[in-house]
Amino acid sequence: MGAALAEGARNGLVLHLIGDLGAGKTTLVRGLLGALGHRGRVKSPTYTLVEPYSLSRLYLYHFDFYRFKDKSEWLNSGFQEHFGPEALCVVEWPEKAGEAIAPPDLKIRFGYEGTGRAALLEARSPQGEAWLAAALSRWRSS
Ligand SMILES: Nc1ncnc2c1ncn2[C@@H]1O[C@H](COP(=O)(O)OP(=O)(O)OP(=O)(O)O)[C@@H](O)[C@H]1O
Ligand SMILES: [Mg+2]
Repeated sequence: MGAALAEGARNGLVLHLIGDLGAGKTTLVRGLLGALGHRGRVKSPTYTLVEPYSLSRLYLYHFDFYRFKDKSEWLNSGFQEHFGPEALCVVEWPEKAGEAIAPPDLKIRFGYEGTGRAALLEARSPQGEAWLAAALSRWRSS
């Protein structure tokens, strides 16, 4: 699914990944980055909070806000300025940043299903709808 999301991925989009510890958020980002041409490791940003990737056709920030204890940490982080037309922002644990975080174009909710995972994808803007449509058509043809 991460690889399918490479289709339609663009600077300026925001993706929120919701799900319990170990639900598969970072794994999805690994698939996305691999399909966007990233070679090498994809480290979980659990400790660094953000990992940046410069790719051939876009710039991607991978955030993980699990360690934020309250909203003030988000407000004091300065990360707001990374959200804008110049990068695609993928956020694990956006709920830890509170309401002030940029709303998502696409939201994915993960759940456990046996040894695998179920994911619910929800477009939240016209740009998100276009992204979801592109990703689904890649998913269906794969
Ligand atoms: N679709 C999947 N099917 C089966 N196992 C999976 C799937 N996605 C992830 N896993 C496994 O679940 C474990 C945790 O995955 P991952 O690190 O992606 O979770 P996470 O949601 O990012 O967790 P955290 O909230 O701690 O960052 C890994 O061992 C991974 O291999
Ligand atoms: Mg993770």
